[in-house]
Amino acid sequence: MRQRPGPIPVHVVGSNFSIIIRAITVTDHTILKQAAQRALGYRDRVNKDSPYPLASASELRALFDTGLPKTGRPDKEVLTQLANAAEAGLVGSTGDAFYGWVMGASNPVGIAADWLTSAWGQNSAIYQTAPSAAIAEEVAGKYLINLLGLPTEASVAFTTGATMASYIGLSAARSEMLARQGWNLEEQGQFGAPEICVFVSDEAHSAIFAALRYLGFGRERLIMIQADREGRMDPLDLAKKLAVNENPAIIVAQAGHIHTGACDDFETISELASSHGAWLHIDGAFGLWAKASPKLSHLCTGAENADSWAVDGHKWLQVPYDSGFAFVKNKAAHCRAMATTAGYLNETEQDGRNPTYFVPEISRRARGFTVWAILQAMGRDGVANIVEQNSDNAARLADRLRGIPGIRILHQVTLNQLSLVFETPGSSPNNMTQSVVDKLQSDGRWFVKEAIWRDELILRLSFSSFPKTTSQIDEFSNGIIKCWATVVEEYRPVAPHQDHDISNSPRA
Ligand SMILES: Cc1ncc(COP(=O)(O)O)c(C=O)c1O
Repeated sequence: MRQRPGPIPVHVVGSNFSIIIRAITVTDHTILKQAAQRALGYRDRVNKDSPYPLASASELRALFDTGLPKTGRPDKEVLTQLANAAEAGLVGSTGDAFYGWVMGASNPVGIAADWLTSAWGQNSAIYQTAPSAAIAEEVAGKYLINLLGLPTEASVAFTTGATMASYIGLSAARSEMLARQGWNLEEQGQFGAPEICVFVSDEAHSAIFAALRYLGFGRERLIMIQADREGRMDPLDLAKKLAVNENPAIIVAQAGHIHTGACDDFETISELASSHGAWLHIDGAFGLWAKASPKLSHLCTGAENADSWAVDGHKWLQVPYDSGFAFVKNKAAHCRAMATTAGYLNETEQDGRNPTYFVPEISRRARGFTVWAILQAMGRDGVANIVEQNSDNAARLADRLRGIPGIRILHQVTLNQLSLVFETPGSSPNNMTQSVVDKLQSDGRWFVKEAIWRDELILRLSFSSFPKTTSQIDEFSNGIIKCWATVVEEYRPVAPHQDHDISNSPRA
C-alpha cells in the first residue's frame, strides 16, 4: 500500500524559510458537531414525542420558505433553521410507535457510516473515482448474496430502493429475452423488436407496474395472472396462460405482499419459467429477507431459481434511506442493459468492479460503505433475528385480536404484515374501520394508516423496524381493542324508545 503524502513543504521563492501547505484547509468542524448534536437530540426524543408530524403543509412551507438570500448566511443559523423546520414535520418512523408502512428505522451504525460516506464525498461511478467505495460494494454484495441464498455468480447493483432494483432486473430481462431472438436491443432499440410477453399477478406491487412502464410495457400489454385470497399468484392460471403463449416471456413474481406478507409459490413458478424458457424476476422488496432466517426461509423456497431479484435495504436491514439491491444471475445481461462507458471513465485490468456498469447512473453515492457496516454490525444472526422478531410481533398482535367480535383478520399471518377490518352487523365496514383508524390516530400513541385493498378500507399494520417488546405489542393490542369498543358503542343503533322517537318531529 502506498503511503498517503503528508504535509508538503514549499520553499517560498526569495525567502529563506519554508511554509507548510496542508491538503485539507477546512478545519472548522463546528457545524458538523452541531449537526451531530441535533441528530442525537432527535434520536433521544423519538420515543417520547408523538410519532405524528406536528406541523401542517402550509406551516412547513412557512418554516422553510423564508426566501432565497442574495448572500450566504452563517452555517449555524442555516442549520438551526433547517433542524427547527424539519423536526416540525418528521414522522416517527425510527421509533417504537411506528406501524404505518413497511419502513426501516435507520440502524445507528448505518447512520454513522452514512455520515462518513458524506464526509468522504466519494463519487462511486467507477473504481478509479472511488476505489474503496467500489470494493465495499463488491464485498457487501457478496455478503448479501450469501445471506439471501442466491446464486454465487449473480451480479449486484446498489440502488435507491426496490423500484429501481426491479427496473434494473427487468431491463436485464428485456435485453436478454430479445438477444435470444437475435435482436440487439442496445443497438437496434425497442421499436420493431420482437414482442415480449410479461406475466404479472393482479396483486403485484405498484412499483412493478411503474418499472414495466419505464421499460415500455404499458398496462394493456401485460398478461395478468389471478391471485388467491392471500395475494399470491395462482400458478395454475400462470401455467394456463403460458401454455398458449408463443412469445419470449418474462414472469414477475413477488416475495412479500404489501398487505398480507404472502410469498408466491416460487418452486412451481420457477419450474414453469424454466420449462417455458421464461425469465423469472422476483420483487422481494421485504419478503425475500425471509431467506435470511432459518425459521422463515421456507416461505421463499425456490426463489433462488429465479433470474433476477429486487430487494430493499431500507426495510428490515435498517439502512438509512435510501437503499435497495438488484441481483441478476446473468451478469453479462445485467451489464449489457446498464453499463455506461466513455473515454474519460478510466479503467485498467487491475481495477475493482465499476459500480456504474450495474446501475443507470454514472455519478452516485457510495452506497456500499453503509451496507457493509450494517452487515458487520448485525451479523447473520442479527439479520435473521430482526426478520423473525418482527414477524413474531405481527403474529402476537394477530393472536391477541383474533376472536374479538367484529375484528376480521384478512389473511394468514406468516411474515410482518397484519391487515384488519372492523365490522358489526348493519354498519359499513369501511366506516367502522375508518373510525378505528381515526381514534388510534387521535390517541396519538401509535402511528397507523389505513389502505384500500380489493375495494375495502383496511387498517394495515407493518412490522419492519426495530422489533417491539411483547409488552409494547400487548399495550398496542389493548389500545386497538379499546378504540374498537368505543366505535361499537358510538355506532350502537338506538333502540326504539319514546325519548328517541323522532317520527313526530318536524324534520321526520
Ligand atoms: C413488494 C414491494 N415492492 C416494491 C416496493 C417499492 O420499494 P421502494 O419504495 O424501495 O422503491 C415495496 C415498498 O414497500 C414493496 O413492498
